[in-house]
Amino acid sequence: MVSDADDHPDDASNAPENPVLRPATVAVTAGRPAHLPDEPLNTPVTLASTYVAGGDREYGRYANPTWSAFEEALGALEGGRALAFSSGLAVAATLFDLVGQGATVVAPRHSYNGTVMQLADLEARGRLQARLVDVTDPGALVAACDDAALVWIETPTNPALEVVDLPPVVEAAHAAGAYVVVDNTFATPLLQQPLDLGADLVVHSATKFIAGHSDVVMGVVVSRSDELFDVLKKRRDLVGNSPGPFEAWLALRGLRTLPVRLDRAQANAQELVRRLREHEAVSVVRYPGFGAIVAIELAQGGMAADLLTRSTRLWVHATSLGGVESTFERRRRWKSEPATIPDSLVRMSVGIEDVDDLWTDLAGALDALPAS
Ligand SMILES: Cc1ncc(COP(=O)(O)O)c(C=O)c1O
Repeated sequence: MVSDADDHPDDASNAPENPVLRPATVAVTAGRPAHLPDEPLNTPVTLASTYVAGGDREYGRYANPTWSAFEEALGALEGGRALAFSSGLAVAATLFDLVGQGATVVAPRHSYNGTVMQLADLEARGRLQARLVDVTDPGALVAACDDAALVWIETPTNPALEVVDLPPVVEAAHAAGAYVVVDNTFATPLLQQPLDLGADLVVHSATKFIAGHSDVVMGVVVSRSDELFDVLKKRRDLVGNSPGPFEAWLALRGLRTLPVRLDRAQANAQELVRRLREHEAVSVVRYPGFGAIVAIELAQGGMAADLLTRSTRLWVHATSLGGVESTFERRRRWKSEPATIPDSLVRMSVGIEDVDDLWTDLAGALDALPAS
C-alpha cells in the first residue's frame, strides 16, 4: 500500500519528535519552568537585588529570572535573543549609542514622536546626525542609507501608518555597513518578523500590544546575532536601564494572550475601517490592512477632532495604544508632533470590546459633529 503521509503532514503518527511550533503555541508555552512535580506553571516574580555568589546571576542589575522568562518567550516569537529594558525609549537610547561620534542615523520622519525627539536631542548635542526620511518615497529611503551607521525603521509608522518594504532598505543599509533596527511595536511578531527579512535588531515598546493591558511601561530588543546581544547586554548591565521584575511578569502574562487579543482587535479594526470609510464626517481613513491601529482625519478639521475625543463613552481619550480597551487621541495636541501629521488626525487603538458597541459609541459622536 502506498503511504499517504505526504498528503497529511500533520498526521500524529508522522509528526516529528520536535515539531516547529506555531506562534500561538509559542506565545503560550515559551519561557515556562520545566514540567516537574510541584513546579509552578508560571515563572514567579523574583524580587531580588542580589543572589548567592558563585552562579551566573550575581546581582539584580545583571539578571533576573522573571526577565529571563519574558525574554525567552519574546525571543522565540521574533526568532532571536531578547533583552528587556525599562521602556521602549530606553532601548532606543541604548541603540543610538551604538554609533560613533557624529555618525548618521536614518529614521522615518513619522517615527514615534518620542524617538524623533530623542534623535533631535542627540543631534542638538552634537552626538549624531539624524536624517529623517519620508518613507512613502522608497527610492529616497534607500538613497538615505548610503553613508548611514544605523538605519531605524518603524513600520507601520506612528501615527501616519505608513508601511516600509524592508528588504531593499536592509540591502542598502548593509551595503553601507549600517545596523538595521526595526521598531515592530505596531505589527507585533505575529504580523511581521523583521529578523527573517534581514534586520539586525527588532525593538518593541512592550508597553503596547505585548503587555496589552495599559498597566506596564517596558521595552525589549531582540538580536539576530550573539555578538550584538552581548554588546547590548553589557550596555544594560552598565547603565541599569532594566525593567522591574513585576513589569516583566506583567508583560509576560500579557504576551500569553497576544494572539487572541490581536486577532480580535484586528477583526474589530477591519470592521470599523469598513464603516468609517462610509461616514461623511471622516475624510481619510488610514489603515495598512493589518493590525489594530487606525488613523482617521476629520473633514471638519482639528476642532472637530478635539470634540470627537470628548464625546464618547467607551472610547477613552488617552495617549499610548495596544491595550484591550479602545482608546484614541488627536496626535497634534502634542506640540512636538510634526506639522506633516494632519491637524485633524485621530489615532485609534482598537480594543477587544464588541465591535457593534464600539461603532455605536463612535458613530454617535461622529454624527453629532457640527456640519461645515
Ligand atoms: C512605535 C513606538 N515605539 C516606541 C515607543 C516608546 O515606547 P515607551 O513608551 O515604552 O518608551 C512608542 C510609545 O508610544 C511607540 O508608539
